[in-house]
Amino acid sequence: MVAGNWKLHGSLQLIDRFAAALLGNAAVETLLLPPALYLAAMRERGLDAKLGVQNVHAAQTGAHTGEIAAEMAVELGASHALVGHSERRRDCLETNAAVAAKFHAARRAALAPILCVGETLDERRAGEENDVVRAQLEAVFEAGAPTADDVIAYEPVWAIGTGETATPAQAQAMHGFIRDVLRGTPARIIYGGSVHPGNAAALFAEQDVDGGLVGGASLDPAQFNSIIEAAAEANQQKHADA
Ligand code: 13P
Repeated sequence: MVAGNWKLHGSLQLIDRFAAALLGNAAVETLLLPPALYLAAMRERGLDAKLGVQNVHAAQTGAHTGEIAAEMAVELGASHALVGHSERRRDCLETNAAVAAKFHAARRAALAPILCVGETLDERRAGEENDVVRAQLEAVFEAGAPTADDVIAYEPVWAIGTGETATPAQAQAMHGFIRDVLRGTPARIIYGGSVHPGNAAALFAEQDVDGGLVGGASLDPAQFNSIIEAAAEANQQKHADA
């Protein structure tokens, strides 16, 4: 899977550029997560990608000004929702418990959740990365194991938007750890944090790296296409090796 998280970026003009240039690949589940306001426009343009939202509220309806519900996202054509992105944990003070509630709200609406986990630089320097990620996973999965529809995104906070990427070995180590904590889950585990055309192939070649969650490079159709291509090649190689 290659998912593009547009964060607080995008415009109708960018959507038109993607509509003209995005090259899907049948071997790679491709997803774009624009600001939710643009879902309808993206659906109308018929892009060769699934659509997702960057956040949902835990409730289906209610007095929650400014929020959107998972059910609304589904109505506008979304198939996936990010939950627990580190920028929301930081900016909106989302706790592990709040993230778990959003995860289950997405499932309630049959929106496949993409649970974001990852440690800060201070936590990694203190050797706490496994404990932090384990706690983030357990908060969500104590109610039940992940399914094949769920996606986990490992995004080390120190690698997001910094140009500093986890090495393939660091990514594999954490992805393997996540797979162990989740007892060999069928959920896909994708990597995020400064993924770009130059490093995607090496990251995706790792055994437990099942794709990428791409920020900055997902705003440029040519770069995004080349990351999708890298995922397709990694997928082919893994099948050949198996
Ligand atoms: P960048 O690719 O810009 O580092 O962002 C990663 C990310 O946070 C995707 O959700």
